[in-house]
Amino acid sequence: MSEDFQQELRRLLHARFPVLSVQTSEELRLLGDVTAAVAGLGGPGKRRIFQWSTSVGLTPDVLPGTRTETFTPHAALAAVSGIAGPCVVLMYDLHPWMGSNVQPPDTQLVRALKDLAQSFRDGEAGRTLILVSPTPRIPADLQSVVTILDYPLPTEEYLRTVLDGMITRNTRSGALTVDLGDTGAEQLTKAALGLTAFEAENAFARAMVDDSRLTVEDVAIVQQEKRQIIRKAGTLEVVDSNISLSDVGGLENLKTWLTKRSGSWLDEARSYGLPAPKGLLVTGIPGCGKSLTAKAMAGAWGLPLVRLDIGRIFGGLVGASEQNMREALRTAEAISPCVLWIDEIEKGFSAGASAVSDGGTSARVFGYFLTWMQEKTATVFVMATANNISLLPPEFLRKGRFDEIFFIDLPTTTERRVIFRIHLKARLKAGPALGALTVDDALLDELAAATEGLSGAEIEQAVISACYEAFDRRRELTKEDVLAAIAATVPLSVTQAEQIGALRAWADVRAITASAPDDRAGYLTTAAPIAVPVEATLQRGGRE
Ligand SMILES: Nc1ncnc2c1ncn2[C@@H]1O[C@H](COP(=O)(O)OP(=O)(O)OP(=O)(O)O)[C@@H](O)[C@H]1O
Ligand SMILES: [Mg+2]
Repeated sequence: MSEDFQQELRRLLHARFPVLSVQTSEELRLLGDVTAAVAGLGGPGKRRIFQWSTSVGLTPDVLPGTRTETFTPHAALAAVSGIAGPCVVLMYDLHPWMGSNVQPPDTQLVRALKDLAQSFRDGEAGRTLILVSPTPRIPADLQSVVTILDYPLPTEEYLRTVLDGMITRNTRSGALTVDLGDTGAEQLTKAALGLTAFEAENAFARAMVDDSRLTVEDVAIVQQEKRQIIRKAGTLEVVDSNISLSDVGGLENLKTWLTKRSGSWLDEARSYGLPAPKGLLVTGIPGCGKSLTAKAMAGAWGLPLVRLDIGRIFGGLVGASEQNMREALRTAEAISPCVLWIDEIEKGFSAGASAVSDGGTSARVFGYFLTWMQEKTATVFVMATANNISLLPPEFLRKGRFDEIFFIDLPTTTERRVIFRIHLKARLKAGPALGALTVDDALLDELAAATEGLSGAEIEQAVISACYEAFDRRRELTKEDVLAAIAATVPLSVTQAEQIGALRAWADVRAITASAPDDRAGYLTTAAPIAVPVEATLQRGGRE
């Protein structure tokens, strides 16, 4: 059971909020939580719990024999308004009457809900209506009377009871042998975090039926099942990453920051009185390692990496964006501790997509996200990246939201050496036919010197195209191949010099540089134009 939810619900019941809305498909689990919350409620008179759905009507009967007369929500609301004593009424799936972007809401019903809210608020007895739906819709007319209550996904403890129950049933019937060792059950349960109870049950069932045995190996099945379920929901994706911080060249400042905070969600950190880090905002020049760092950080911290697709949050029907955001954050919380990676965050939150163009949706989603950032207690570490931070609203950048804003500039000479070493070594290791080019200081110095103004991605591309050259000629890779590939590269720092200059100017006063101080002599301190490789200038035919 989720204690926090019960507490919050109790608080709202106490405070006489007349109509609540809960988004969930888990009616049974919710009923359990509501029952527990009501049982723990002090004060005079026990609240009765009623339930309504259009297939069953209102139960238990308000007056003897009235149930069959309450199949329509209109009749049900009339019956509910006649309930005299303290009560909590759960109404399931009222959303089809609440309108959509192609159909207006049922005006009679909307009015009836308003009247009911009024009489619940003014009446003496504690009476509360809870609207329950997997896809709630709240017409504009009702927004001031309905309070949205977030319902968290099942806790690890809850899922463990589900798993234990299934194990007991299936072993008793002889359908299953179990060999989970000391930690197997815990690992299975952890793998299912982020799923509803029903989904987790399905995932466990799959793990059980494949060979009628339940072992630690089945953790992979549950993980895979979860990945699919989460991806189907559309906005989140669990990213597999075996990248470590050593795969990231340079950015020592940022890496040190991350390393220092590794383990900050553990109890040990609490005994140092440390607040859990909230998150990082990383901006910088394209291709210099923003996305790479996000992946490496989850690997370094040993946490799952969950990617939030901000475009998809806003991609759905009008009005659904907020729900998408709530649902995504709720899933991330259930998977916590985890890293929530929001790539190119400015795409959703930019000032451009403002109140005028979308009826305030992006502002509301954005507000919800900021509040969540501020108040979140679960260890969901946000790693947001932005290419154009100047599009983000200023509230976003206020201190206390993100722990730090890092700027990733073009790699320095020292950094380019490391990036070459990483990518050359990786290629040579993967392709024995490339031969044994010696990656020594002399080579790295030469390559680094030839690539001022190139990004990490461009360096990687140069290495790859050099390998293609070797392949094309069916011979081993040479230094000359790499130098030729470099010469053929027209870097972004040339084609987009102006934009990059603006980015740097922005970052100069607002962000911390990701590179180590020793590495970046000359960068950021001046607005000097970036040195451009001679070859590249020639290639462009001397434009400007
Ligand atoms: N510092 C670096 N060390 C090693 N490789 C790098 C580095 N920077 C970039 N790369 C290489 O370039 C690729 C692209 O980098 P990445 O996706 O991290 O760029 P980005 O900053 O997210 O760019 P974009 O703004 O285009 O999304 C990486 O997968 C990696 O192979
Ligand atoms: Mg990226």
